[in-house]
Amino acid sequence: MDAKRLFIVANRLPVTISETKGVNPCSGGLVSAINSYLLHAKESSGQSFNEIYWAGVPGCSTNIWDNFSGQVKHSDFELIPVFANNKDYDGYYNGFANSVLWPLFHYFPSYAEYDAEHFQQYQLVNEQFATALAKQVRPHDVIWIHDYHLMPLAKLLRKACPQLTIGFFLHIPFPSFEIFRLLPRSWQQELLEGLLGADLIGFHTIDYATHFLQSMQMVLGLDSEHHVIRYQDRLVKIDVFPISIDYKYFQDAYDTEVISRKRLALKEQFAGKKLLFSIDRLDYTKGVYTRLLAFEQFLRQHPVHHNKVHMIVVVVPSRDNIVKYAERKRMIDETISRINSQLGNIHWQPVIYQYTSLEFEDMMALYTTADVAVVTPLRDGMNLIAKEFVASRKDGQGVLILSEMAGAARELTGALTINPNDFGEMADKIGLALEMDAAEQRQRLERMQERLRAYDVSTWAEDFLTQLKVIKQKQQSFQIQ
Ligand code: G6P
Repeated sequence: MDAKRLFIVANRLPVTISETKGVNPCSGGLVSAINSYLLHAKESSGQSFNEIYWAGVPGCSTNIWDNFSGQVKHSDFELIPVFANNKDYDGYYNGFANSVLWPLFHYFPSYAEYDAEHFQQYQLVNEQFATALAKQVRPHDVIWIHDYHLMPLAKLLRKACPQLTIGFFLHIPFPSFEIFRLLPRSWQQELLEGLLGADLIGFHTIDYATHFLQSMQMVLGLDSEHHVIRYQDRLVKIDVFPISIDYKYFQDAYDTEVISRKRLALKEQFAGKKLLFSIDRLDYTKGVYTRLLAFEQFLRQHPVHHNKVHMIVVVVPSRDNIVKYAERKRMIDETISRINSQLGNIHWQPVIYQYTSLEFEDMMALYTTADVAVVTPLRDGMNLIAKEFVASRKDGQGVLILSEMAGAARELTGALTINPNDFGEMADKIGLALEMDAAEQRQRLERMQERLRAYDVSTWAEDFLTQLKVIKQKQQSFQIQ
């Protein structure tokens, strides 16, 4: 019998609630991708779920939740809050998830801060997720767990309810074994065994899946056949699902009244100038600092472009309780100030900088006005900004400069790719992008748009959930034999 109830489980709920600011939507690639999928999920052709739940940490106390949760209006799914006390949450989120797993999995091993207490808190909060979910789930439910915050959860849920159908998707890279093995051995084992509680484990790219299978082999001695591992009495499938965006939503947004008006205003403001645009969460993995150095080099090498080009840099505040994030912010601020004071003049500010989050309409106006989007992470699981920019360009104009260290580079083959540590190459590609003729821009964009149209966020989610169903069915016949 088909399962009819789907439980999305992620660190964050799609809203945050605070006493002072009330109920607010959350940003970030994961939340927006899942949200876009869920909005269409009930009518989607592939899987029909008649009840959908989303479990996550609401970022407030039980009292505040009780006072405000009545204001959360979402007819498409129900929210399940998972409460953790501040100290445990801090060790789980800032400590283990974002000061060990995040830097390590993005190849910043020297940024990792190993602390046994944080690992315990990480496990504890995962147990709290398991307890909250165990109260709600039934054997035929489908559970879809997201991201590195929740690597132990599938095993805990499997123990609580062995028949569940459980999928896990990792939204960040899975690193090579040489990096993964830097974790204390018992942590390596617990993380991998945690994931093996799932029936399907998904990654953005084939490289990440291959790295994962190598770690399985090296740490747990488990081999795979056609990406399937036999573990205890079950089959666990490992597969690739490059996350995407709601392509149509971005295309349709181009002509809306508000966005058209905002775009016109930007075009008037910057008439006669070329615009480079970037928007990222504040994160050392995103390459904002090195991007600025490359722009500086470009300006120093090409005085002919002085007074004629701006780089608009939007950095969205994120994880600022972590020292490495605050440090990165200082580096960005100082570099922008140096570029503007040394290369700019009273009439021309080379870098226009905002440290803020943007409303969708403002971001769309910038995407669709920019001549060039500069997306140059040092390492990125996928990078949805690159995909959003491509999808938003209904006019067929605009150039994407994209780091080959982003998962998206495998699909967005019409971009000008760069190595984010090669400032010379980045500076040259900025020059090339600014001079690219309209026909070539259109031809490159169309190639990328075709890919995004064919595999959008709904296809991604349907693909994952279909594979999950298939492996579960195979598993049942495997257990019968
Ligand atoms: C990345 C992670 C997501 C996370 C997002 C925002 O995309 O893969 O899991 O939600 O960053 O980060 P934050 O720490 O603010 O949730």
